[in-house]
Amino acid sequence: MNTKSIGVFDSGVGGLSVLRHIRSALPSENLIYFADSLHAPYGNKTPEFIIERSVRIADFMLEQQCKSLVVACNTATAAAISHLRHHYALPILGMEPAVKPAAAVTRTGVVGVLATVGTLKSAQFAALLENYGQHIEVVTQACVGLVECVERGELDSLSTRSLLKGYLKPLLDHGVDTIVLGCTHYPFLKPLIESMIPTHIALVDTGEAVARHLKQVLADSALLDESGRKGSIRIGTNNSEPNAQEVILRLWGGEDPPFELQSVSL
Ligand code: DGL
Repeated sequence: MNTKSIGVFDSGVGGLSVLRHIRSALPSENLIYFADSLHAPYGNKTPEFIIERSVRIADFMLEQQCKSLVVACNTATAAAISHLRHHYALPILGMEPAVKPAAAVTRTGVVGVLATVGTLKSAQFAALLENYGQHIEVVTQACVGLVECVERGELDSLSTRSLLKGYLKPLLDHGVDTIVLGCTHYPFLKPLIESMIPTHIALVDTGEAVARHLKQVLADSALLDESGRKGSIRIGTNNSEPNAQEVILRLWGGEDPPFELQSVSL
């Protein structure tokens, strides 16, 4: 049982930012990642559509005998995680924008959140603000088009830069000292964002915390692979663009074989 894989998915390549943390926290685990890039972005889709896609992908992960599932997408977590947890018996972890850690570190008490329209409109995000945003000012900004930039591998193009400039301005105008990267695609834009904001502003995301939490959940369920050998990594995508695999390799960082990349029609 313990040598079974951990399934990780996202609307596209963004969840690779989480997969990297999972790999370093749990190097012995076999990992299967699916990028639903054909249907990205999820941010402008209905919750019903996202639930349907998430169920399809969860079924695929179960066919691969996965022992747990990570929804490495804030938008899919908000729309579909309750449904998934209700219908599947394995441990399922999700992502939420790092409002809680941001509230703990902000000095000015003004926190910015960059996320998708779907995440910001969700009941889960409203609950997050209710629970952790009461004593701070939270400036939210929906970043339409940014996911697509990362999907195309444009981490520092003119259009990515110009979109970001517009999205960062209201946050800077409000005097934020902490910015939450509330979408798993955005950590890939961290170097660009850092070059566009004053150095005292901190960027926070939840990839590392989710990897730590996953380790704990697997340990608590006696599902950890403690063999000490190096686990395999299989990455599947339904993106048929000519540069799809090149983008994945670049985002992953080109290191850490064995690394299997395949086209999956799902
Ligand atoms: N990576 C997804 C997230 O964390 C992006 C959603 C989208 O495709 O719009 O929300």
